[in-house]
Amino acid sequence: MAVKVKDNFFSIETRNTLYQMKTDEYGVLYHLWYGEKTGCRMDYLLDYPDVGFSGSPYDAGNRRDYSLDTLPLEYAASGAGDFRVSAVSVTHGDGSTALDLRFREYRLTKGKYSIPGLPAVYAGEDEAETLEIVLGDRASGVEVTLRYGVLERIDVITRSAVIVNAGKDAVTVNSAHSLCLDIPAGDWEWVHFHGRHNMERQVERVPLIHGIQECGSRRGTSSHQQNPSVILCERSCTESAGLCIGAALMYSGGFQACIEKDQLNQVRLVMGIQPDTFSWRLEAGESFYTPEAILSCSAEGMGRLSQQFHSVIRNHVCRGKYKLAERPVLINNWEATYFHFDEGKIIEIARQASELGIDMLVLDDGWFGERDSDNSGLGDWFVNEKKLKGGLQNLITQVNRMGMKFGLWFEPEAVSEESRLYREHPDWAIQIPGREPVRGRYQLILDLSNPAVTDYLYQVISKILEENHIEYVKWDMNRSICDWYTAGLPGTRQMEMPHRYVLGLYSLLERLTEDFPEVLFEGCSGGGGRFDAGMLYYCPQIWCSDDTDAYERCFIQYGTSFFYPVSAVGSHVSAVPNHQTGRTTPLKTRGIVAMAGSFGYELDLNCLTGEEKAEVAEQVRKYKGYRRLIHDGRYYRLSNPFADGMSAWSWVSEDRKQALVQGVIFRAVPNSLRRRVRLTGLDGEAHYRDRESGAVYTGAALMSGGILLPWTRGDDAAFEVYLEREG
Ligand code: DGJ
Repeated sequence: MAVKVKDNFFSIETRNTLYQMKTDEYGVLYHLWYGEKTGCRMDYLLDYPDVGFSGSPYDAGNRRDYSLDTLPLEYAASGAGDFRVSAVSVTHGDGSTALDLRFREYRLTKGKYSIPGLPAVYAGEDEAETLEIVLGDRASGVEVTLRYGVLERIDVITRSAVIVNAGKDAVTVNSAHSLCLDIPAGDWEWVHFHGRHNMERQVERVPLIHGIQECGSRRGTSSHQQNPSVILCERSCTESAGLCIGAALMYSGGFQACIEKDQLNQVRLVMGIQPDTFSWRLEAGESFYTPEAILSCSAEGMGRLSQQFHSVIRNHVCRGKYKLAERPVLINNWEATYFHFDEGKIIEIARQASELGIDMLVLDDGWFGERDSDNSGLGDWFVNEKKLKGGLQNLITQVNRMGMKFGLWFEPEAVSEESRLYREHPDWAIQIPGREPVRGRYQLILDLSNPAVTDYLYQVISKILEENHIEYVKWDMNRSICDWYTAGLPGTRQMEMPHRYVLGLYSLLERLTEDFPEVLFEGCSGGGGRFDAGMLYYCPQIWCSDDTDAYERCFIQYGTSFFYPVSAVGSHVSAVPNHQTGRTTPLKTRGIVAMAGSFGYELDLNCLTGEEKAEVAEQVRKYKGYRRLIHDGRYYRLSNPFADGMSAWSWVSEDRKQALVQGVIFRAVPNSLRRRVRLTGLDGEAHYRDRESGAVYTGAALMSGGILLPWTRGDDAAFEVYLEREG
């Protein structure tokens, strides 16, 4: 058993980590430890300083040194003597907001809990245990059940909370975070992933300051601007050494992660639904379930931490036929044609692609309604026969005859004012009566908190999927959401809507993915604007960014790799000059960068020279050869592109018999030594042969001395080394 409980002392041991909590004589639940295994009760670290202006609970009597404001707490409530950032805050029927949570009981069960209506890590009975700890407010009927899902073998602990109104009067939940983690004073830094459209998940690592640092989204989606994932690490932590703790929220709506360094240099992380766009009324007897946060810890640096997240997301978050299956190499017509195509043009792209070994044609935006630009047509999910004569069926039949699969783009959550759907159901769009709505890319968003809307979307999409041989769906979403209002809720409850929207989205995705298990769903939100573990529960891959420039992608994919597995990263070779940056990079580089993901193309192959087509065919052949290693192998970051002038990464197979090293050197420098990178994850004792040069090295040499990279010429030049173990 990974979870051991004795006299209200809770110890969770995973393969390499230890997590401890305990209650004291007042029933306060402390957080004691999350880190390496120590073989010891860590409560000896507790200290009880008498700190001015940090008051004491009434039942602690004359103990001035006993304060909720200074103790490490497992789930901090607001308004009752802990003045740090809180995990939960409620307003009671009388308008007061204090909440004083004390231990009531615990439960231990086999297997992993699930969460009604929300995605959650799943695991078999023999793969996980669930610990539930019930806390209750002393003066009201509010209870909080903390839930821990322990995946011992992969060093993962999930967290979520259930807020229960066991009292007689309604209460309003003002904030309910999924995770609260108090860690001891130390030299801590945090890493977060910020950006913007076309530039997602840039890595920022900064020391903690006294006070609160925060990342989050108020956009109704997890957003391009901040990703719902953070790392706390010791200052000395590197890729291969040092302590770090990662947290990823399995949620696709607005979120918040706050880190507070308090007056005693202690650190608290809370993470969950964004409270600025949230409030939830709980009638007597009702419960509120928070989304799940996935936690993992590594004492061997961030490389190991990332691998733990890759493992949990790939094996215990992603689902369905394509979870572990080889993904088809696809060609998407968006950057090839934008809105301007007819079936002849699409067939030509497909024909060329099939000759080069590509498996699937994806028809992107513009195939439906009156959709010739981005200011009309969204919502009208019936084929535009002016563009596609003979409809989808005719096109798909022709594509299938070439031996290719067919995939289709949708943006189900959006509606254009210039559309039949909007004319018929203006009330289905999110907007506040008496106020002009904010437009984003000219479009409005449908009210997915309204079951009539999600039912309608289910009907139209499932009809298309039933009537046509569609093997892939790209699920796009192209704006941030505001103007929150729904006719379905009274005025006092409007701020439930952002969360209800996400619940509506998840229920729609659940129905569709369950009813069409053969279809590969790829998530997308203007690229990677909703790249989170919640979406990955429904879509095993997500279009990583609308920026297809190979140089820029080195940074975006580097940031993405801290939490998300390579198989989740949709990545395509596009034309040059690149449409987002105007940069020209070699075709080889575009191929190598796109291979570090779920691979595809997004250009008009008919515009390539014969030589370039041959190179594409070779890339596709190569990717198919490497595909298993790339998706199943252990992924290592070998450089930091933000600092090293190059991006290098590798995969090592589980049996350590094969390693593939790839990357890009950004600038050509004359009269210089060849670049050298140290490899990781090899068998130090074994000998490895470089397939290209025939040179043989020990694993130890490759990991200590490194490998000299092949000569490259020109800017943004890619390299690749494939190593096989001898014997
Ligand atoms: C945004 C997506 O990220 C693109 O790949 C493309 O599908 C466009 N939307 C189409 O409007």
